Amino acid sequence: MEKIQPIIWDGERLLLLDQRALPLNEIYISCSSAEEVGECIRRMAVRGAPAIGVAAAFAMVLAARQIAPSLEKDEAFLDKLAETGTILKNIRPTAVNLSWGTDQILVKAKSLLGMSPGELLEHLENTALNIYHDDISVNKQIGEYGAALIPSPCSILTHCNAGALATAGYGTALGVIRSAFFSGKDIHVFADETRPFLQGSRLTAWELQKEGIPVTLIVDSAAGYFLSTGQIDCVIVGADRIAANGDVANKIGTYTLAVLAEKHNVPFYVAAPVSTFDLSAAAGGSIVVENRSEAEVTHLQEVAIAPPGIRAQNPSFDITPAQLIRAIITENGVIVNPNQLNISRTLAYER
Ligand code: MRU
Repeated sequence: MEKIQPIIWDGERLLLLDQRALPLNEIYISCSSAEEVGECIRRMAVRGAPAIGVAAAFAMVLAARQIAPSLEKDEAFLDKLAETGTILKNIRPTAVNLSWGTDQILVKAKSLLGMSPGELLEHLENTALNIYHDDISVNKQIGEYGAALIPSPCSILTHCNAGALATAGYGTALGVIRSAFFSGKDIHVFADETRPFLQGSRLTAWELQKEGIPVTLIVDSAAGYFLSTGQIDCVIVGADRIAANGDVANKIGTYTLAVLAEKHNVPFYVAAPVSTFDLSAAAGGSIVVENRSEAEVTHLQEVAIAPPGIRAQNPSFDITPAQLIRAIITENGVIVNPNQLNISRTLAYER
């Protein structure tokens, strides 16, 4: 069993570790409906691209259970399920995994029409469980490929939280760090605090500390100082959506780090599963960037930290051009100097 379990399915309900309460309290929210799971995604009780994809898959199972007994016709069942899917997908627009997880259940439901409701629901539950377990094994494979790129000793800068908490378990960027550390490498992590939601200080620092991986917390604006003084050997981040040409949408501030890494000749790596690629987006410019509330910037846990009435902007993600990325680490292999050709080759590879 994984040390950190952000998502637990007990057969009836989805239990989500409330990431707003960390690092002080470890509380699970119990969801018995798709609406409740959707609300947890909206409020970021569960967050991180792969984690919201997995949560959405279970939300669809809960929706199917609710819809199935009241409908006679298969088509009506599918229509209702697709309606729930559309609502879920629109909750957070940038992370492609949310649509991906939802669609996996929809496609499965379509392929099973004609089955008895009991059998159909069982298959859908198994599909969600497979998505959950696959996510963990995919992360471990990413970790193994990524660890091979990490020298020892190595001082690694990471941004946001692309760890166990952002996935079903283990993590993508933090999965690489875990694998490198547990293979015996001398690793030190610098974690950006990641304003405004503080995924770095509240979540990444908590996760790494819990596992005994050496970590130092820095404010976002200190990254340039640490890079320019030669204290960082590489940068590793996760991704929310990767375009066909290798442009990466990830937490706001990622682009700044990539520019700084280029300036100081420090390798900049992205770790992400194949499910984070969106080949329908030719380049980063067509990726929708989620804007979140002004209150996340003007307030810290409901305490005002800016003058009343001040306007704020809160884009939650930015786009890092492929040219700034040394490699994208996937479960299918490492894509060095990502571009359309090497990305399509790697995605086509059967593991
Ligand atoms: O707004 P969040 O916390 O959901 O954003 C998370 C990130 O940007 C992560 O880096 C990304 O989802 C990858 S998680 C493996």
